[in-house]
Order: sequence, then structure tokens, then C-alpha cells
Amino acid sequence: MRIAVIAGDGIGKDVTAEAVKVLDAVAEASGRPIGFEHLPWGADHYLKTGETLPSGGYDRLRTFDAVFVGALGDPRVPDNRHARDILLGTRFELDLYVNYRPVRLLADRLCPLKDRGRKDVNFTVFRENTEGVYVGVGGRFKAGTPDEVAIQEEINTYKGVYRIIRHAFEHATARGLTKVCMADKSNAMQQGHALWQRVFREVAAEYPSISATHQYIDALAMFLVRDPGQYEVIVTNNLFGDIITDIGGALQGGLGMAASGNIHPGRTSLFEPVHGSAPPLAGKDVANPMGAILSAALMLDTLGRRDDAAAVEAAVEAAIAAGQTTTDIGGALGTRAVGDWIAERVRHQS
Ligand SMILES: NC(=O)c1ccc[n+]([C@@H]2O[C@H](COP(=O)([O-])OP(=O)(O)OC[C@H]3O[C@@H](n4cnc5c(N)ncnc54)[C@H](O)[C@@H]3O)[C@@H](O)[C@H]2O)c1
Repeated sequence: MRIAVIAGDGIGKDVTAEAVKVLDAVAEASGRPIGFEHLPWGADHYLKTGETLPSGGYDRLRTFDAVFVGALGDPRVPDNRHARDILLGTRFELDLYVNYRPVRLLADRLCPLKDRGRKDVNFTVFRENTEGVYVGVGGRFKAGTPDEVAIQEEINTYKGVYRIIRHAFEHATARGLTKVCMADKSNAMQQGHALWQRVFREVAAEYPSISATHQYIDALAMFLVRDPGQYEVIVTNNLFGDIITDIGGALQGGLGMAASGNIHPGRTSLFEPVHGSAPPLAGKDVANPMGAILSAALMLDTLGRRDDAAAVEAAVEAAIAAGQTTTDIGGALGTRAVGDWIAERVRHQS
């Protein structure tokens, strides 16, 4: 197994070191080696060389089994150009159309909701990852003047909407789940989201044993807080998925706990924690590495190493149960000590 590692910026570097540490422990415990190639792409590299990623960079990524990313974003690059090329660029170029974000509460005490616990927070969000408003189509006219016009188009294609909705149903079927909820804003966005409505009805008809429901995204945001237990699988567009998975992160105990995969089934895919580079925390040994470590577990699972993924998840759960965590979730350890504890547990468990 060959993994490209882009630690990136800020706490991306801190948490990636711990994810790699745990993957090394998995490889050692299972006797199945994992090779890493560390790519220096990020703000430092961009500021030094003027290059966001080298020419042929996306092709190079395609040669790996998977790509692991920490986080990208640095105040010294105010237009975030390097992050756009490295992260959004890879999502588009490698056609990573599934943004896979499991939202699973690992301990009751981490839930911010009153009288809710593990049984209430266990669902998956599939966010369309290659279209929507993130494609950068649009422009500004008379920029910087009082007459400025700014246009940001939302792209929805039949192919794009179909494949993410189908993926959500396939995931539910494969896991024995019975509920898929599609969220859009078709009452107000009557062109693009009419397409989501049509495709959802079409695909749902092929899965009669799954209860297919629809909610407007604003209502869904409210229900995520009032009654998250009603969801098993949620499928939505790029922008809405981005926003509601931060709510999902909060339901799991904070952004530091949330994992994600950017996937094209059967091809090189990219795994990263949901959080950003949190510049004020960078290099201080305080960032929670669990989101990154759980993203590494998602990567193992997606690459077919289910037992190894389960071992990592069990070790993270054990760390939480034993209070061996960073301060954001109530512990007293630093980033590195949490990584050490989980890596040791993985070696010991296996
Ligand atoms: N996928 C990515 O690489 C990604 C995602 C989001 C934001 N960003 C970038 O990151 C930079 C900072 O953005 P932001 O501040 O809006 O979001 P952020 O996720 O970096 O931080 C938001 C809040 O969550 C906390 N937090 C995040 N991760 C944590 C962790 N692992 N442990 C403990 N606390 C954690 C931070 O301290 C902060 O209070 C920006 O440049 C932004 O563009 C990158």
C-alpha cells in the first residue's frame, strides 16, 4: 500500500504526524506494510517557490493507492490559492465525487445536546464534491466600485447528481440501512434543485426497501440539532454538505473529531479530517488528532483493510473512554501524547 501524504498547513502538520504514527502501528501489528511519500505542498512551499503543486502533480497523485491530507489554509496566503489548487483541484481533477462524512458519537459525554447520546448520533452524510457553487464559475464586474456585480454560478448536472444519490443508496444497501434523506432547497432554487428532486425520485424507485425522504436543507439543519436520531444516510449538494457536516462535527464532540473521505470508487481517493488548519493552534501540541486518525481508519476501510480500520476506531474509542484526550474534549494530553497512546493501543490490541 502506497500513500501520498500532504500534511499541509497549520495544525494539518501536527495531526498528520499522529495519523501516520498510528498507520505505522497498524502496519507493524498486522504485518502488512504501508509506504508513505511525504509531499511538501502547502503554504510554506508556495511562498518559497511560487508553485502550488508541481506540473504533473495530479497525475503523480493518481499513482498512489490513496492520498492523506492534514489541512490547508494559511493567513500568509490571503486568497487561499494554494489550498484551492491542492485540495479543490485534486477533488476536481481526480473526480472525487463522493464526500463521505460519517457522523458517529463515540461517547455520550461528548454530545453537546441535552439528553442525547450515542444512540442518537450515528449517521452518514454524502456530500456531492465536484459540482455546485464550488466550481468557481462566475465573475465580477466593476469590482471594487459601488456598482460591483458578483456572479457565482451553481452547477448541477444529471450525471453529477445521479452518481452521488446512487452512491448514497448503495451505501445504505451495503450496510443494511433503511433510510436515505435527500436535502435541497428546491422551494427557492427552482432550476438546479428540481433536478435533484427528479433524480432522487428516479433512483429511490430502484430501492423499494429503503425509505427515501426529502427535507429542505434549513429544516434539516434544525432537525440535526433537535432530533439527529432520525437519520441514517443524508445526501446533499456541495455547499449544504459542507455546512451541515460542521454541525455533524459539533454533534460528535467538536471539529477535531470529524473524519472524511473524498472518494471516486475504485480509484485513488483522498482522506482528511473535516477541520481546517486552525492557525492559532498550530505547532503548539494542542490540536485534537482524532479526526485525522479516524480519517486514516476510513482510508484503511475504503482500501479493503476492514480489520485494521476497526482496530484504529476501537483504539480511539478506548482513548476517549480512558480520558486520554486533548483538552478540547476534556482531557489533559497534548497532540503527540494522544497519538502515542492510540498507536500503542493499536499494537497491543492486535
Ligand atoms: N479541508 C481543509 O483543509 C480546510 C477546511 C476548513 C478550513 N480550512 C482553512 O483553515 C483555515 C482556518 O479556518 P477556520 O478557522 O474557519 O476553521 P478550523 O477548522 O481551522 O477551526 C475552527 C475552530 O475549530 C477549532 N479546531 C479545529 N480543528 C481542531 C482540532 N483538531 N483540535 C482542536 N480544535 C480544533 C479551531 O481552534 C477553531 O476554533 C482557513 O484558512 C480555512 O480556509 C481548510
